[in-house]
Amino acid sequence: MFRLAHLSDIHLSPMPRAKRRQLFNKRVLGYVNWHRGRKFVHRREILDLITHDIVKQKPDHIVVTGDLVNLGLPEEFIRAAEWLHDLGPPSKVTAIPGNHDAYVRLHPEAGTGRWQPYMESNAAGERLFPTPPARFPFVRHSGDVALIALSSAIPTMPFIAAGKIGTAQRELLASALDRLKQANLFRVVLIHHPPLREQAGWHRGLRDAGRFTRILKQHGAELVLHGHNHAQTVHELPTATGPAIIVGVPSASEAVEGRIPAARYNEYAIGRVKGGWCVQMVGRSVAASPEHVWESERRVLKER
Ligand SMILES: [Fe+2]
Ligand SMILES: [Fe+2]
Repeated sequence: MFRLAHLSDIHLSPMPRAKRRQLFNKRVLGYVNWHRGRKFVHRREILDLITHDIVKQKPDHIVVTGDLVNLGLPEEFIRAAEWLHDLGPPSKVTAIPGNHDAYVRLHPEAGTGRWQPYMESNAAGERLFPTPPARFPFVRHSGDVALIALSSAIPTMPFIAAGKIGTAQRELLASALDRLKQANLFRVVLIHHPPLREQAGWHRGLRDAGRFTRILKQHGAELVLHGHNHAQTVHELPTATGPAIIVGVPSASEAVEGRIPAARYNEYAIGRVKGGWCVQMVGRSVAASPEHVWESERRVLKER
């Protein structure tokens, strides 16, 4: 059994103090938004509970599907790199960017480049699918599992949280899926935005969701993991190689009070069975008073 943990949308807090000149762009709206409400939703102590729990569970690998920061301040990227380090070494943790990680255009070295060791293939993945110059998709291979990491993060106008995969990445994804199927591996696609068109509207959805799901249908995938909606959802997409299970996870830092879903991460146990795969999902969520992490769901997603 390969144990894979998935968390997303940590929206790391507290927010570093922003210099006045850093707010002369889209950031100013986000800054106001953050101090008006979001800082009460995304709490560092909640994220720390989740982080400690994952580390204690010792999964074989951990994936983080974007929105590590909030406004794209250079200091936020440094703090997120420190958090990734707390979670585990780059060989055990894979990260992809979300829309908040591309909030404003930033030199890669000051932005997501800080997480580069977590956002690249490993040697086994590189042998199966060499990383293109644009860096995505990249492939990691460990045991029976192959991770195909995509970037749907694009800079957008204020109040728009949409994403896009683009033609080049979609074409590369198609050939990566074929190659990994030939290698008889369990294919896990990582994407920040929810992949189905009905999962998000124009303002915050994946712009090429239709074309992306067509690739999945034609080339197949076993599991698709995403964030962005800050909610637990499970969908099934019929594909040429059997159903692809699409799972969205809530934010890993959301306070447990109120109407929003509690902070949570999921752990998958993936195993080979005669003629296919078995997959079990365990959800671990933060409960209130005293705040602690508990097993909130256990569910078989695939039996064959
Ligand atoms: Fe988010
Ligand atoms: Fe997002």
